[in-house]
Amino acid sequence: MAADSQKWILMATARAPTNIAVIKYWGKRDENLILPINDSISITLDPDHLSATTTVAVSPSFEKDRMWLNGKEIPLSGGRYQNCLRELRSRAGDFEDERRGIQIKKEGWNKLHFHIASYNNFPTAAGLASSAAGFACLVFSLAKLMNVKEELGQLSAIARQGSGSACRSLYGGFVKWTMGNEMSGRDSIAVQLANETHWEDLIIIVAVVSSRQKETSSTSGMRESVETSSLIQHRAKVVVPSRILQMEEAIRNQNFSSFARLTCADSNQFHAVCLDTSPPIFYMNDTSHRIINLVERWNRHEETPQVAYTFDAGPNAVLIAPNRKVASSLLQRLLFYFPPGPDNELHSYVLGDKTILQEAG
Ligand code: DP6
Repeated sequence: MAADSQKWILMATARAPTNIAVIKYWGKRDENLILPINDSISITLDPDHLSATTTVAVSPSFEKDRMWLNGKEIPLSGGRYQNCLRELRSRAGDFEDERRGIQIKKEGWNKLHFHIASYNNFPTAAGLASSAAGFACLVFSLAKLMNVKEELGQLSAIARQGSGSACRSLYGGFVKWTMGNEMSGRDSIAVQLANETHWEDLIIIVAVVSSRQKETSSTSGMRESVETSSLIQHRAKVVVPSRILQMEEAIRNQNFSSFARLTCADSNQFHAVCLDTSPPIFYMNDTSHRIINLVERWNRHEETPQVAYTFDAGPNAVLIAPNRKVASSLLQRLLFYFPPGPDNELHSYVLGDKTILQEAG
């Protein structure tokens, strides 16, 4: 580094959308490296509605790493952040800006501290996978700042160490997280099954049932499931492997009937595993159950499924319609059964689309 360089600051900004799993990740075989017990598949959403935007800055005048989430400083003590940073530092490149007299050698990054400011445009920790967008964005922006020249797949393995589902947000469209076999986790990465232009008619509607912080985090919930549920083993070894193959085929062929059946069944089995956990974990509430009933009754009434539903670790419903016509009919039904009013159970709807991770700034 140049001797008189105490005044400079380098910044990078990125935006990453959240993703919604249609075949769920639930359970780790390695807690530290965040290695899952099964593959999972997700759809990456539109960043205009559900994304994290992160600016990372580095300067020799920063005395420690600091982070702000939605304007509020949060502690950075967690090992997950440190793990991501260690991986990125080990891959950092040289940086030189002759005009401003800034030179950072590979090893120089070890001595520098970062300031990170991240914003979510949706409720944090309400079962809308905010950690997925957050860590994907953090890793992507830091990689840009530190001149890390890695393929997205390798970056996904780093984001995975921040939060498992984050690895899938590095890609747009339809994404599979392959659990991998290696102890090092090197092969536990995300791969894109199809990009965001594939199956463009799909419409995703998130019905926000509650924007409150969930009581049991995904991390502790899945740990308890692995320790106490017997259903989770059957799910990981027998059910998910065959569903993954069927889901890949459904996506490839844009077969909505098969896609919807698999999506709903997998969401229901994930919540069954939560109930099979001791003590049981309840992520869905009465409104979530009423939404399931609404969709199930509608689907049964027609020859083929009209809409798919899926719920993560929270009560909010993610509803997927095959096209705009069905999506508008779905919205009408939701408004009929959950009319707006002072006691309304549904707070709002967020319309989503498939998209890609975007670089900003
Ligand atoms: C229900 O990725 O939040 O959303 O790896 O412990 O950070 P950690 O968990 P996280 O779990 C997400 C679980 C899920 C299903 C999914 O996204 O596949």
